[in-house]
Amino acid sequence: MRIVISAGPTRERIDAVRFLSNRSSGKMGYALAEAARDLGAEVVLISGPVSLAAPEGVRVVNVESAAEMAAAVRAEEAQADVIIMAAAVADYRPARVVDGKWKKSAGPVTIELERTEDILAGLGERKRPGMILVGFAAETENLLAYADEKLRRKNLDWIAANDVSCAGIGFGSDRNQVVLLGRDGRKVELGPAPKREIAESLLRIVLMK
Ligand code: CTP
Repeated sequence: MRIVISAGPTRERIDAVRFLSNRSSGKMGYALAEAARDLGAEVVLISGPVSLAAPEGVRVVNVESAAEMAAAVRAEEAQADVIIMAAAVADYRPARVVDGKWKKSAGPVTIELERTEDILAGLGERKRPGMILVGFAAETENLLAYADEKLRRKNLDWIAANDVSCAGIGFGSDRNQVVLLGRDGRKVELGPAPKREIAESLLRIVLMK
C-alpha cells in the first residue's frame, strides 16, 4: 500500500526575503507518516518548510509554496492508494512577487492576494474508484458543520476536524484532538492524545475495509 501524506505550512513569496505563511508545525503530518510506515505502508511525505527531522524509511519531498506542493502531489497521485492532506496550504498568495528586496516607503502599502489552487478539491474531482482521500479542517467555530461541508464539497472519504481555538492542542503542539467524519456519516472522536496516537487511530479507521 502506498500512502501519500502532505504536512506543514506553505510559504508564499512576497519578495526575495519575505513570505506569507502560517503556524503549522508539521507534527501531525509527520506523525501520520511515521505511523503509516510502521503499519508497513510505502510512504511519501510531501513537506512544507518545518523544523522536524525527516522520518527514516519515508521518502520526503520538500516543497515551499502551494504551487510546488500541488505539483508534488500531482506527481504522486496516480500511484497512491491513500492521500492524506494534513498540510496547512495557504489559501492566498501575493498576486505579484517583487524582484529583490521590497524597499519601504513613507505610507502604508497594500499587497494584493490571489487564490492558490485547492489541491485537495482537485484530488477529489479526479479521485479514482478505491482511492481513499482524507482532508483536515482547522476551525475555530462550528467545527463539525464546517468540516462536514468540506468533506462533501471536496469529495473526500474522511475529514479530520480540528478545533484550533483550544489551548494545548493543534498548531505547534505535540497533542491533538480531532473528530473524524466519514462520508458514510460515521463520526469518531480521537484524543486528546499525543499526535502519534491520533495518527495511529486515524490510520486504522481510514484503512479499515
Ligand atoms: N487544502 C489544499 N489546498 C489548499 C488549501 C487547503 O489542499 N489550497 C487542504 C488542506 O490540506 C486541508 C483542507 O484542504 O486538508 C483544508 O480545507 P480548507 O477549505 O482550505 O480549509 P481552510 O483553509 O480552513 O478554509 P476556510 O477558510 O474555508 O475555513
